[in-house]
Amino acid sequence: MTAVYVLNGPNLNLLGRREPTVYGSATLDEIERRVRERASEAAVELTFGQSNHEGELVGWIQEAGLQGAGVVINAGAYTHTSLALRDAIGGSGAVTVEVHISNVYAREAFRHKSMIAPVCAGVICGSGP
Ligand code: DQA
Repeated sequence: MTAVYVLNGPNLNLLGRREPTVYGSATLDEIERRVRERASEAAVELTFGQSNHEGELVGWIQEAGLQGAGVVINAGAYTHTSLALRDAIGGSGAVTVEVHISNVYAREAFRHKSMIAPVCAGVICGSGP
């Protein structure tokens, strides 16, 4: 069975009330429900997590790599800063896709740089929740 970790980084627990004009009105619980539905239709074994702590995200990425699972990650602001997440993705061997709700390239210049994109299989951004 295919296994995928869907990981959300800092402040994504605030979805629904965090800058709704940028991130929409869906809460992370609603997003998790939708992802779980799709995963069960596709017979994907899903691990869904959110953390405001870089180290916890590193731990989940390493765990995914050890289990041969894929990773879909919205790393939030850590996308732009975290060498530790980049090394975890690159070192764990977990095939990883970077996701953003907003189109980071249409926003402030500091959001245009991703530390993790070079070690990801692909990037999806700007399609909303
Ligand atoms: C985000 C974009 C990041 O720049 C920001 O720090 C976030 C959310 C997005 O989903 O659009 O926290 O990853």
